[in-house]
Amino acid sequence: MSSHLTILGIETSCDETAAAVVTRDAEGRGTILGEVVLSQLEEHSAYGGVVPEIAARAHVEALDSLIGEALLRSGRSLSSLDAIAATSGPGLIGGLIVGLMTGKAIARATGKPLYAINHLEGHALTARLTDGLAFPYLMLLVSGGHTQLVLVRGVDDYERWGTTIDDALGEAFDKTAKLLGLPYPGGPAVERMARSGDPKRFIFPRPLLGEARLDFSFSGLKTAVRQAAQAIEPLSEQDVADICASFQRAVSRTLKDRIGRGLERFRALHPESAARALVVAGGVAANGELRMTLQALCEKHGFRFSAPPLALCTDNAAMIAWAGLERMAAGLAADDLSVAPRSRWPLDREAAALLGSGKRGAKA
Ligand code: KG4
Ligand code: ZN
Repeated sequence: MSSHLTILGIETSCDETAAAVVTRDAEGRGTILGEVVLSQLEEHSAYGGVVPEIAARAHVEALDSLIGEALLRSGRSLSSLDAIAATSGPGLIGGLIVGLMTGKAIARATGKPLYAINHLEGHALTARLTDGLAFPYLMLLVSGGHTQLVLVRGVDDYERWGTTIDDALGEAFDKTAKLLGLPYPGGPAVERMARSGDPKRFIFPRPLLGEARLDFSFSGLKTAVRQAAQAIEPLSEQDVADICASFQRAVSRTLKDRIGRGLERFRALHPESAARALVVAGGVAANGELRMTLQALCEKHGFRFSAPPLALCTDNAAMIAWAGLERMAAGLAADDLSVAPRSRWPLDREAAALLGSGKRGAKA
């Protein structure tokens, strides 16, 4: 094996089609040589959410040329690569089939090994690509399909400490936006409105606050928002802004409580760890108020707060290539070409499935 490893990554698990070429040197430093992400936002916005069939079709149409473009930008040819990495779950099954089949075809044609990557492992390891973070660390994944607090012990070694028992946080933002008549995706719209709102006007519930378990719950919050909105209809622009600000405040208080407990647990378990860190990933990590809350929390508990650049927090193929590189460098075996895509694929093999969690289950 040469000291530099280079992998093509493919991501098609939800509504982003992406390809990237990433390299890793002998010291473990990664460099993105070329990457492309094509968002399908426009195709889905009329429906207020991702439509699986439309997503799968859009992946088919775009993927080949995106791979060509990523290779072009990287200055590499397929034959110079060490392996192919493709997301094979969790996610929308149609899209996963498109990406994994393409990865298999390239692996077969070039004779390179194939790594079937867990999308969540991609998110979990990104901070090592961007910040060179050492194991162990904590990761908070907050996206449209997932809300998880995970202990990242090493490559292929994860312990889920908390997950949502109902809606994912991004989903709660999207549903709140929808019932207030704001556009999809809801997160950015809610954040924008919240800037001119009064966060103290409505006191929304802070679910599971004070409970020792590290799980999350957001459906009660959404119901409370609906009831508050119905009680004062018709809503003025200021009413909508105040609801958004109050909703965001409730979310950030809840995260502060849950994550604060997670940081304490990490410290108790790893008193020797000199470089404690919390990593965030997922689209909701774009939210300024939540970032500030987490940053302050980390400072208080003596943790480094690591937030990869937004383009690497949301779905992308560089993280898939990187996860492949990490697996390869760790000596983990490549996958057989008979490997099947999986719409559900928990990172932590021991963690029990929580009733009601990840109903949409597909998005990460
Ligand atoms: O990771 P991501 O891009 O993709 C999937 O989940 O597939 O996350 C998208 C989610 C959406 O629910 C969106 O509303 C939310 O991230 N989001 C935000 C913000 N930007 C995106 N939520 C809160 N504040 C934001 N600024
Ligand atoms: Zn994701």
